[in-house]
Amino acid sequence: MTDLAARLTYACADAFESLGLERKWGAVRRSDRPELADFQCNGAMGSAKQAGRNPREVAAELAERIAGQEDIASVEVAGPGFLNIRVSAQALAVRAEAVRAEEMRGAAPAADRERIVLDFGGPNVAKPMHVGHLRSAVIGDTLQRIFRFLGDDVISDVHLGDWGLQMGHLVSELEDEQPGLVYFDAEYTGPYPDEPPVTIEDLGRLYPQASAKAKSDEARNARSQKAVAELQAGRPGYRALLRHFINVSVAALKQDYAFLNVRFDLWKGESDVDDLIPGLIEDFRKKGIAREDDGAWVVDVSRESDKKEFPPLILMNSRGGTGYHTTDLATVVDRMRSITPAPERMVYVVDARQALHFEQVFRAADMAGLIGEDRLEHIGFGTVNGPDGKPFRTREGGVLRLSDLNAMALEEAGRKMAEADKLPADMPGREREQVAAQVAVAALRFADLQNTRTTNYVFDLDRFTSFEGKTGPYMLYAAVRIKSLLRRAGDEGHAPGDIRVESEAERELVLALDGFGGALLAAREKRMPHILCEHVHGLAQAFSAFYGAHPIAAEKDPARRASRLGLSEAVLGQLECGLNLLGIDVPERM
Ligand code: ARG
Repeated sequence: MTDLAARLTYACADAFESLGLERKWGAVRRSDRPELADFQCNGAMGSAKQAGRNPREVAAELAERIAGQEDIASVEVAGPGFLNIRVSAQALAVRAEAVRAEEMRGAAPAADRERIVLDFGGPNVAKPMHVGHLRSAVIGDTLQRIFRFLGDDVISDVHLGDWGLQMGHLVSELEDEQPGLVYFDAEYTGPYPDEPPVTIEDLGRLYPQASAKAKSDEARNARSQKAVAELQAGRPGYRALLRHFINVSVAALKQDYAFLNVRFDLWKGESDVDDLIPGLIEDFRKKGIAREDDGAWVVDVSRESDKKEFPPLILMNSRGGTGYHTTDLATVVDRMRSITPAPERMVYVVDARQALHFEQVFRAADMAGLIGEDRLEHIGFGTVNGPDGKPFRTREGGVLRLSDLNAMALEEAGRKMAEADKLPADMPGREREQVAAQVAVAALRFADLQNTRTTNYVFDLDRFTSFEGKTGPYMLYAAVRIKSLLRRAGDEGHAPGDIRVESEAERELVLALDGFGGALLAAREKRMPHILCEHVHGLAQAFSAFYGAHPIAAEKDPARRASRLGLSEAVLGQLECGLNLLGIDVPERM
């Protein structure tokens, strides 16, 4: 079933049509002045102007036509020709019942569903993930959930960074530490051991060690570059090492992502498309898109309409090396070939500072006819800052690893719960730990997602884990409170029943429920998860107001009590569904 705004829009469009005016003027939305009306339609003014008529007269005729319809309690003409509509208690009750009963909790699938590759996460194999990768993971995963829920066909890909200079750093640094390993013996051709020669801790140590040396020592840097060139040229020992590095990294990454409720369909990486690169360069050359420049191959992607300078994309440098642009182009080729039916769109959830990179890649992909530029989207996001307003660092000045961040959030969640004395005394230790993890994840994800995607935010774990304010833990608390209310009522033999909408607080609550589908469609269209956060938060607040205004389980009138329990059930269903779409699981008790 569609939401009230859509139903009213339909009714108003009919009315416009019957007056010989265009249907498009019938658009109805929530009222700016809730004290006057639930919904409003502003089309009378524009349509009257177009038809050369008096807007208030048009509005009055429209009002006459829609008054008395089933959903409508009253309709009034205000000001220059606004239609102020109040919906009937019956229409609200029907909506609330639908939210309670339907699997999509009142929302409906999008009309323009697509087959979408969602590229997010983007961790690098050697380099530790940092808080920036948290944003990509959390925003990307939330979009994946929202898209799927609304009927899109999504294929998510983590797109590991496993092909750059960092791999050369790792290989050469390991060789310095353990030159005797069989991987470094140029004569040896295999087979190579199944056991990895390094642990995740080794990787975490080797990379910073090598990159620090390379910064001050040109010869050391050259060795890393040589190693990566040999790796990319296919030296068997290095390839075998790469496999180990990837496997060890992926095992650790999967843990960090699982903690955050983030999942991927594909665990592909840059190295997977390496064999497509020679053909890709050849193709670009044949099509006359690539041009030779001092031994390098570049693509001119600038356009006359560009306001600022648009540097050429480097397909291959003069030493024969290929980089980030080329792997991204080859990945487009791979996705178009290996995914059937082919994707209609590719969406990249990556730091906004990479905007130029993606614009270059998208233009080149279009020029080569790989996929239209309008089918490629960079969904950028702002940085996570420390209290000083600069990108967040650890106390020692390094980047904070995602695993440490998760651990910190878990510890803080445990502390907050103990402080607030939230958990029942009889709760077993295992369940306590699980609830603490759910609170930690709710804190991190909600804190990130509630910000407009494109803005920066300040990382403040103390605030994120608070049970008060617009936080994940508050949202959990709101949902758990309804669960326990329903459970206690059940224990006393009170079952939920038919919903009746009587009071102002009930009307407000059902109107909040009614906004779910619209919020989801807007979040999908704009790729903005904060719109869903706003919705669930507003719903929790409307429930709080309702709960404060009326007795629920303690209501004496049985039909009214059953109705309020039914309404609570509808709210819980939608709240839990909305939170799940944000990647947040609600505990049974708290
Ligand atoms: N690994 C990259 C980084 O850490 C992000 C990759 C984003 N995805 C892509 N297809 N380029 O910055």
